[in-house]
Amino acid sequence: MSIARTRIAVLFATKEGQTRKIGDYVAARLRDSGAEVDVEDVAHLPEGYSLAGYAGALLAASIHMGKHEGAMVKFVKHHHAELASIPTAFLSFSLSEAGVERPGTPPEQRKSSEGDVRKIMDAFFAETGWSPTRQRPVAGALRYSQYGFVMRFVMRRIAKKTGGGTDTSRDYEYTDWAALGQFVDDFGLELLGPPKPSDGRPRAAHVWPV
Ligand SMILES: Cc1cc2nc3c(=O)[nH]c(=O)nc-3n(C[C@H](O)[C@H](O)[C@H](O)COP(=O)(O)O)c2cc1C
Repeated sequence: MSIARTRIAVLFATKEGQTRKIGDYVAARLRDSGAEVDVEDVAHLPEGYSLAGYAGALLAASIHMGKHEGAMVKFVKHHHAELASIPTAFLSFSLSEAGVERPGTPPEQRKSSEGDVRKIMDAFFAETGWSPTRQRPVAGALRYSQYGFVMRFVMRRIAKKTGGGTDTSRDYEYTDWAALGQFVDDFGLELLGPPKPSDGRPRAAHVWPV
């Protein structure tokens, strides 16, 4: 007899790919905890997609030009009732958060970046009317390899001003994988309960090959 496993939905919205990578990482981590996980890009959902049957959902979206991805806004608005009926988590990816977490950031700039992230996240919750059970801003990536000529120049100028990497021949990833892993484990624990010796669930075994 097979035992039905707890199903969790991981939904992401991305422009340059970092949040997709995070979606895959989160899914692997939750699977390691014993859940059955489906990962979807909200910009390419199958017709009639529904969260019915899921015990919880983790949503992740990046910020561009002061806003989270439009596809995520649309998804949350459309699935508002379903999201309100299960435990949910939201991860917000940005370079402002990278500035907050960077050890060398001057206190004034840190405070300002922290305020920017908070404002953008609050605007997203206000626009969608969604209050996730858990939320966390996460440092994203500077992906020069994905930018066109002009955008590479613009992003380098911003990076120079804010203490980010300026070598455009490479990408920079600022995500704190350990902190993210802890957040995901805590959410998994809420949905799955603590592992029992008999269920053979390895805890937090997944280490991401960065
Ligand atoms: C055109 C552009 C605009 C961006 N705008 C913002 C912004 O307003 N605030 C911010 O903190 N980060 C901003 N970022 C940084 C992204 O949030 C960061 O690179 C993130 O990791 C992108 O995630 P993705 O690869 O999943 O799209 C911007 C990046 C680009 C390329």
